[in-house]
Amino acid sequence: MSHLLPLSRVAKLVGQSRHTLQDMIRSGALATFDGMIELDELLRAFPEVKWDDDAEFRRVTEIKDQAFARRVRDLVLPDKEVLAARLNELGNDYASAQALLLHYGNVMTWLDEKIDELDEGASAETHHALHSVRAFLLRNMAEMPPNAAQAQALIVQERMLKIMSAHVTIQPSGHAFFVEGNETILEAALRHGVSLNYGCSNGNCGDCKARLVSGKVKKVHAHDYVLKPAEKEAGAILLCSYAPVNDVVIEANVAGARDIPVQQLSAKVKSVEVFNPQMAALHILVPRSQRLRFLGGQSIRVSIDGISGRYAIASCPCEDRHIEVQIPHRPGDAFAEALFASVKANDRVEVEGPYGEFVLDEDSPRPVIFLAFGAGFAPIKSLIQHAMSLELSESMDLHWLADAAGHYQDNLCRAWADALDNFNYVPHTPTEDLDTLLRTIALDYPDLHRFDVYAAGSAAQLERAHAQFVREGMHSARWFARADAD
Ligand code: FES
Repeated sequence: MSHLLPLSRVAKLVGQSRHTLQDMIRSGALATFDGMIELDELLRAFPEVKWDDDAEFRRVTEIKDQAFARRVRDLVLPDKEVLAARLNELGNDYASAQALLLHYGNVMTWLDEKIDELDEGASAETHHALHSVRAFLLRNMAEMPPNAAQAQALIVQERMLKIMSAHVTIQPSGHAFFVEGNETILEAALRHGVSLNYGCSNGNCGDCKARLVSGKVKKVHAHDYVLKPAEKEAGAILLCSYAPVNDVVIEANVAGARDIPVQQLSAKVKSVEVFNPQMAALHILVPRSQRLRFLGGQSIRVSIDGISGRYAIASCPCEDRHIEVQIPHRPGDAFAEALFASVKANDRVEVEGPYGEFVLDEDSPRPVIFLAFGAGFAPIKSLIQHAMSLELSESMDLHWLADAAGHYQDNLCRAWADALDNFNYVPHTPTEDLDTLLRTIALDYPDLHRFDVYAAGSAAQLERAHAQFVREGMHSARWFARADAD
């Protein structure tokens, strides 16, 4: 009996991205059967992976988590009801496997008896043939296949993953992610940067209502919002209150930049990170009860003691309660002056937003070039982290054209490049001859027409970059830009 595994779970087992596996499938290095990978094929394609040791998988996950500035989460067990339901499913699998083995055992006994029956009074030639068949069966029954130990270890790992996490596919968008530990479906979606509709996140408003298409879920938080019997009958669930028992498919709306309303909330300063005299980051912690919905690349208005300014968000929507904005120390910017002079941890900060439509085209399968001019790195950083959490792009190249503030997060960019196969980082020092530099960058991509280009900087820089890139083959429609003032 063949053992088939879905691609997302294989990606987890071997510590590779789905993109890498899809590349292997395209090149013929990994065979699929109805979109699934057979266990034997997996063992063949990844002979170097030690299935009984998940250290490599954990190492890769930790590097990625650190590179994304994301908290490395403790291994948390699922909610006890979910755990019981998953163990019950596993028990059922085990019982069916036992029943099947029993059945095969009976078939073998029957076959043995049949051979005895046929052997009675058989010719010497038939006797010899029956003897060979019996010897063949006994030999193969007694002998384990050469990769049996590896296959067993792999199945153990996969079963462990199934207990600790469940796979969710969102329709019609096709987003997919794992719900781990005691997360709800909504929490896991947000952690993966999937912008599902929601409001209160605690079972009151009904905004996270969605439809379960297949699989099983369990309610893990009580909710005051009442689902009507007809809605329940049709499979309605509240994403903030339910966790999946097994792999599920859910019908739900994923919001675009225009669908997310402007929100106002009162938060506190977590810290001020001064990179150098020209650039600082304001780290904000929003209340547990009121998260800010936004997409990577958008901006917010922040206000402390009546002084306010609007800045690009530099963090990923997947970062739970943390929001980062990066603020250049520009003359005449009262908020920047206050930030460098007196703002400190625990100060109250009012947040309003999100604004802007400089967001990822999540439907695009094209490789991406990011062009960050100076402090334009902030929205680009947010986009990159969002793309990483969604595992969106086939490849991402970051060109950071620094100004006087320099490459103030150079280490972070290098960590991304070290941790991810599909990410390249090219820092560029300030130059008098911007057009030549832009043309050199564009010429590095003879197939520029295949790329999406996201650029952030001043209006003048963007205009010049757009002109050079179009001249070298970029489709104007695949140019996404955010000017400093947006
Ligand atoms: S977000 Fe309000 S009920 Fe789920």
